[in-house]
Amino acid sequence: MGSVNSSGEPRLVIASNRLPLSVKKTDGKYDVTPSSGGLVSALRGLKTAKFLWLGWPGLAVDPSHRDRVDEQLAKEHAAAVYLDEDLAKDHYNGFSNAILWPILHYQAGKSMTPTVWEAYRRVNEIFAESVSNEARDGDLIWVHDYHLFLLPQMLRDRLKAQGKRCPIGFFLHTPFPADDYWRGLPFEEDLLQGVLGSDVIGFHTDEYKKNFVASCDVLLGSVQVTNDHLRYKDRMIKTGRYIAGIDVGRFTRTLEDRKVQARIKELESLYKGKKVIIGVDRLDYTKGLTEKMEGYRIFLDEHPELRDKVILVQIAIPSREDVKEYQDLEGEVSKSVGQIIGKHATPHSTPLLYIHRSVSFEDLTALYAISDVCFLTSRRDGLNLVASEYVACQDRRHGVLVLSKFTGAASFLSHGSVLCNPSSAEGLSESLYQAITMDEEDRKNRHNALRDFVTTHSSEKWTKSFLDDLEKYRVQ
Ligand code: ADP
Ligand code: G6P
Repeated sequence: MGSVNSSGEPRLVIASNRLPLSVKKTDGKYDVTPSSGGLVSALRGLKTAKFLWLGWPGLAVDPSHRDRVDEQLAKEHAAAVYLDEDLAKDHYNGFSNAILWPILHYQAGKSMTPTVWEAYRRVNEIFAESVSNEARDGDLIWVHDYHLFLLPQMLRDRLKAQGKRCPIGFFLHTPFPADDYWRGLPFEEDLLQGVLGSDVIGFHTDEYKKNFVASCDVLLGSVQVTNDHLRYKDRMIKTGRYIAGIDVGRFTRTLEDRKVQARIKELESLYKGKKVIIGVDRLDYTKGLTEKMEGYRIFLDEHPELRDKVILVQIAIPSREDVKEYQDLEGEVSKSVGQIIGKHATPHSTPLLYIHRSVSFEDLTALYAISDVCFLTSRRDGLNLVASEYVACQDRRHGVLVLSKFTGAASFLSHGSVLCNPSSAEGLSESLYQAITMDEEDRKNRHNALRDFVTTHSSEKWTKSFLDDLEKYRVQ
């Protein structure tokens, strides 16, 4: 950030629902754990120390415990926007996860009660109050994701009333669906108007950007002036695609750690003689886990000679466990896992290991490194950073990335991966077979191409390119 605000300190204020740390309560005690999810991972690229990250801590925290939580969050440049339990539940689960998330991922939405919409508005207002109080004249403000669609316009109004000039950016970490899906939402115009309070609006792919611009055009009469700019109510708004990435160095450094090296050796000896296939997904219906299991079942049925020679290690990170669809999914996936193991395991070997909990970063990195294939079968996925993380850990093995063509990542990693379609179980089985039997030269060429891309499109570059564009609005 080049210019300086009135207090002499340029600063960035980030607002997102999820913070880098989430508060958990066990046996009446509050503790913080690292949050999972692409939004938090992508923002690890922020290299400026001068940022403040505001967000919901993950649950209602008793006021007598807030000082300790605040202290922990401050170490990550973060601060909590505390919300009452019922309000947070209606905002997060009721509207954001149950209504918005499916539509954004091209699934029919459900009917909703006025209470959840009211809670959504209210939480966006509470964020607007916190962010505008925190922001100083000249600060950059960066709002993230669908939980806060209304926030940019609310902020614009408040900041104007306070006489503060702060450029406002918004980044969407999910897909933005085709216009007819979006119109299936209630309050679809209010949500778009909220986002259009921003100066810069960012997406993972050109397709999401195009869909967003088309919806604004149809519903609000905005005008697309250039490929990257639209005019709405006499303001020029930049819309762009910014390729999010990872901090490759964090993975390569972890791989060099002695304890991780020892873990890698242990795992390699445990799986000696087998091809390891890794899957890492939040337990979310958009990730295509039931489809993945069906594809893998067919793969094992069709290649009985490989039963003892492959193992799929599937990590399913618990997610949004208060939402019915997520509870149902857990049952479905567990059932498929049981069926596959029941049919294909032998007294000395199992072709599937299912881990339904979080694993440590060190274990995750070691698992990426020892795996011959990474199998990602999302039905729809805004980006999928797991794909890039796997590539970052494959310099020795040159493992193959099997990647759903419905991920944002497929729009730029297609050249080196084996693209798959989760709606065809036979197709998934074939893609897996192709990956497992691929020769070293092909694997190496593909890996090198992917590795170049992942290294040059880092999370740092993503934040910088977005913030550089936002910075341009400071002088207007
Ligand atoms: P999504 O954002 O939909 O969850 P992504 O694949 O983009 O999907 O991002 C998932 C992120 O969560 C990855 O960066 C992955 O490393 C991270 N992750 C996976 N397991 C954990 C964990 N136990 N703790 C923290 N982060 C995790
Ligand atoms: C996706 C969303 C993020 C969210 C993450 C984890 O990546 O785009 O906004 O933080 O999933 O989900 P959660 O509900 O745990 O925040």
